[in-house]
Amino acid sequence: MGQDETDLTLTNRQGHPVTNNQNIRTVGNRGPATLENYDFIEKISHFDRERVPERVVHARGAGAHGYFEAYGTVGEEPVSTYTRAKLFQEKGKRTPVFVRFSSVIHGGHSPETLRDPRGFAVKFYTEDGNWDLVGNNLKIFFIRDAMKFPDMIHAFKPDPITNIQDSERFFDFCSSSPESFHMVTFVYSPWGIPANYRMMQGSGVNTYRWVNSEGKAVLVKYHWEPKQGIKNLTQQQAGEIQATNFNHATQDLYQAIEREDYPEWELLVQMMSDEEHSELDFDPLDDTKLWPEDQFPWLPVGKMVLNKNPEDYFTEVEQAAFGTGVLVDGLDFSDDKMLQGRTFSYSDTQRHRVGANYLQLPINAPKKRVATNQSGGQMQIRTDRASGQNPHINYEPSILGGLTEASQPGKEHTPYVAGQVKRESIDRQSNTKQAGETFRRFEEWERADLILNLVTDLSRCDSRIQAKMIALAEEADEEYGRRLREGLQQAPAESSGQSPLGNKDAGEAPAQAVRKGR
Ligand code: HEM
Repeated sequence: MGQDETDLTLTNRQGHPVTNNQNIRTVGNRGPATLENYDFIEKISHFDRERVPERVVHARGAGAHGYFEAYGTVGEEPVSTYTRAKLFQEKGKRTPVFVRFSSVIHGGHSPETLRDPRGFAVKFYTEDGNWDLVGNNLKIFFIRDAMKFPDMIHAFKPDPITNIQDSERFFDFCSSSPESFHMVTFVYSPWGIPANYRMMQGSGVNTYRWVNSEGKAVLVKYHWEPKQGIKNLTQQQAGEIQATNFNHATQDLYQAIEREDYPEWELLVQMMSDEEHSELDFDPLDDTKLWPEDQFPWLPVGKMVLNKNPEDYFTEVEQAAFGTGVLVDGLDFSDDKMLQGRTFSYSDTQRHRVGANYLQLPINAPKKRVATNQSGGQMQIRTDRASGQNPHINYEPSILGGLTEASQPGKEHTPYVAGQVKRESIDRQSNTKQAGETFRRFEEWERADLILNLVTDLSRCDSRIQAKMIALAEEADEEYGRRLREGLQQAPAESSGQSPLGNKDAGEAPAQAVRKGR
């Protein structure tokens, strides 16, 4: 450190003390400027590069650190009966986690009151390396085939000409994709606007497998249940918050952790034997379906506590990279077609969004030994060599002291797969039945808000789209269809192009709107 330097002395990135941070270097004090002014050029050109591409979806988010604590059991049984994943085995065992919550469709600073699913992505830094559980607040999804994802997102995002989100484009896609009707029923109800991030559920949505020490597998779905209770907003309530605050969910999470009111969720799983289950009227690999709780109970396996805010938003939250391919021993994929498409997409986009060495960043790197022959690429900050490794041997196999393969930790799960290769949708589609069940399970204020919100947005749509949506609602439930039809008959045709959302009131949500419910 220079003679007069203290820990607070400003330097540039080369470590040179900055003696004048107010003025660029000029010929005389009125300019022109000189180009060799390193401090200025370093400062401004770094600023010019402050942004990385935002996430193509889920751009707006908030994050927090914490831990997961295992119960050692799944329901009444030892968890080892079903999975050998180490993080679950021992009662009280803690695994550090980082969680990122998000909204989906709009950009990095969009209001957190918008009707949208919410992301709920958890990175577990386990002793076996990282496990990412990349979920949403709702337990199902709009589509069941990854092929449709880019079209779905194009229809939901702002119009390519006007840059305005347009409900006609949304319902055009959804009415022509009837598998989306169950999810539309949730998203257009108060469940589409969680009150904040602390008071919402999470779900892995897609079907995974658990594998035990004998290599036997079961199908599982993961769910997070908030200890804070669940709270959702009517459109009217969301509009009132949005009028004065469009950061309320990030603020709520940050402030709760600062005042040491740490949010908690219990992790529960539903299990099914690893078969096609022809007795069910839906396919267990179809992510537009709930697994009925009375047949497949929610079994607790542990809890998660978030107790530390990020120290820097960009370093930790923006650069965090979650992916469905990031699993540890004892956890496996299923043949769920969405899951398989997702698993390619996440690390692909992250190599573009964050860079080839995104896994070297502290937020993404496992908190355990990494030893790999992968090397090079932009922004490599270290080689991940083993301490005893011959540094000349960056390949495998070798007898000269390079890295060697690990032994198989347990019996491998090796499912037998045979069939014709084809492009076809699944047989048991049952597109509207569960939407009807969900409609009937809703409380009356939730049904009223759902109908109001659908009518408000559908009234601006082409009458053919309205007719298709009414037909889907009628197929789901007689009352659902009737109320939607009557609502649309009474609604004035909207042509202003302005979303009328928020202008009307579905009636008050009960004061005790904190609810349990699946
Ligand atoms: C983020 C693709 C379905 C939950 C993303 C990102 C992509 C993507 C490219 C941005 C990742 C990044 O930049 O780091 C897809 C594809 C899907 C799909 C191709 C279907 C084929 C789903 C489903 C869920 C989900 C069904 C819910 C379970 C999330 C979450 C994030 C995300 C929570 C944000 C993660 C974060 O906080 O960084 N998705 N997604 N996605 N997706 Fe998906």
